[in-house]
Amino acid sequence: MCGIVGYIGKNEKKQLLLNGLKELEYRGYDSAGIAILSHNELQTFRAVGKLSQLENKCKDFSSTDLGVGIGHTRWATHGKPTEANAHPHIADFSNVVHNGIIENYQEIKSTLISKGHTFLSQTDTEVIVHLFEESLKNEYDCLKAFQQTIAQLKGAFAILLITKKAPDSIFYAKNGSPLIIGRSCDDANEIYFASSDAPLIGLADRVVYLEDGDMGVMKLGDFARFKNAKKLDGTKSYAQKEGYRYFMEKEIYEQHKVLLETMMGRVSEGDITLNELSSDFFTDIKQITICACGTSYHAGLSAKYLFERLAKIKTNVVIASEFRYALPVINDDELFIVISQSGETADTLEALKLVKKKGLKTLAICNVDNSSIVRESHASLLTRAGIEKGVASTKAFATQMMLLWILSVYLGKQRGHISSQELKSHIASMVESAKKTRVSSHLHEHIKRLSKRYLHGHGFFFIGRDIFYPLALEGALKLKEISYLHAEGYPSGEMKHGPIALADSELFAVALMPTHLLFDKIKSNVQELSARDATICAISTQHIDGVDDVLMLESCQSYMEEFFTMMVALQIFALEIAIRLGNDVDMPRNLAKSVTVE
Ligand code: F6R
Repeated sequence: MCGIVGYIGKNEKKQLLLNGLKELEYRGYDSAGIAILSHNELQTFRAVGKLSQLENKCKDFSSTDLGVGIGHTRWATHGKPTEANAHPHIADFSNVVHNGIIENYQEIKSTLISKGHTFLSQTDTEVIVHLFEESLKNEYDCLKAFQQTIAQLKGAFAILLITKKAPDSIFYAKNGSPLIIGRSCDDANEIYFASSDAPLIGLADRVVYLEDGDMGVMKLGDFARFKNAKKLDGTKSYAQKEGYRYFMEKEIYEQHKVLLETMMGRVSEGDITLNELSSDFFTDIKQITICACGTSYHAGLSAKYLFERLAKIKTNVVIASEFRYALPVINDDELFIVISQSGETADTLEALKLVKKKGLKTLAICNVDNSSIVRESHASLLTRAGIEKGVASTKAFATQMMLLWILSVYLGKQRGHISSQELKSHIASMVESAKKTRVSSHLHEHIKRLSKRYLHGHGFFFIGRDIFYPLALEGALKLKEISYLHAEGYPSGEMKHGPIALADSELFAVALMPTHLLFDKIKSNVQELSARDATICAISTQHIDGVDDVLMLESCQSYMEEFFTMMVALQIFALEIAIRLGNDVDMPRNLAKSVTVE
């Protein structure tokens, strides 16, 4: 999704902005641009496609004197991915970049056109820069003109604006979309801006995460006025692929390590503790609603089985974009859990704000500390997956699942539904599950060979039962995201109620067949498909008759171990098919890493 960077200082601005945008590339984009203002010269460069196109456009330009610069990667919402629609947007003497959506842009645009403004793009963003210049006709003070501009905008935004009328300044505003201001490590007077931490790591040592409603202007040295700045930690090592073909592949291979991070300090030999939460956090809670999108929603669906089975708490799981407008019935004794890798997903964030307003207690399961969702929630549990660069989520999902399992056992113990013997067995199983996610070269090779048989056909059904049903949904989502093949996840017992009509030799069924959960039931469902000549790939820890392929997994002691082992197999299955089809696995078409628009 769209990304923003900005800089005030004397270093070469073009390269700094391009480097910053590169750090945001993984979020997905279709065009990019930068604008630099120095010596009262305002230069703007924009290009469709990858950043290399933009680099090419500005290869002969450099700016080493004191000045300001802004940059943007755009993921099209209003208007096609064209150069005219790429940011920065331009008026007579100012440029703007913007993340989010200006909902009332049509009205503003009509008014501005009637006042003689000419628009060059189809975007909502362009109105901001025209509105600013219009305000300046009656207002000498640029900050006041900027404030008047922002006051007229409805919707979500993170905005940076530069203007020849104040050539040493960057004007900023935040409402609903994230925006961070950082102080340079090298020169405390210099200032960086970004829409997430990634571009700032290594460049800024202290940062301010702006709150909704924040706006203002920054000049060299102005960072000192922030009294609430936080230290920015982190290294750039995550940015390298370390020999893997794709970040997604690297992240799949990292899972066994990051799962230990998730467990650290929470899971010990004989107990589970969650020091982040007060001991009475769950006291009055009688039911749970989990709210999320995409892969995080699948983690939520899986957690329902765990919360109900282990902690005996009624759990409802909702898709954030549906929940927001459904006038949901909310009970006082309900805990609202939001799950989000990025912590910035607009639908999830807005659902969270909605229930918070109604007085519900909220808990975030999130991978990004200081993200909007973490800051908005009453309490949070961080998944600790590290930065995930592949657009298709893998290690973030793994850590969400581990954390939700930890939470359900913690609650089960607290409510007296789990004996100390069962607690020990869950802990042993968690440790073993983390180990099971270590990718063996044998498994990877096998899947690579197998993948060539699953490139065509008229579609995939991933089928499973119980907690393996949401895993089937996730397996199907991974495949469609990066291979662009049609895939659906389905409860295997439900196939006979309709979808089995599609079964023929060109239908691929990927069957999740755990030994430790409802094995005989899913076996019958697989036989029903086999009898209708579907091409079946079974994933199991045991040999299966009557199917086309068996992806044999190492034997496991519990169904949760099987869950994590199968999760890895499904991720690699999607990865290898996508690679064979020649797709860019890390940046699949049309997708964005952090979906900050509704
Ligand atoms: C799929 C994927 C998306 C996200 C979804 C929610 O691989 O990554 O489906 O899970 O956009 O994002 P977060 O978890 O950041 O709220």
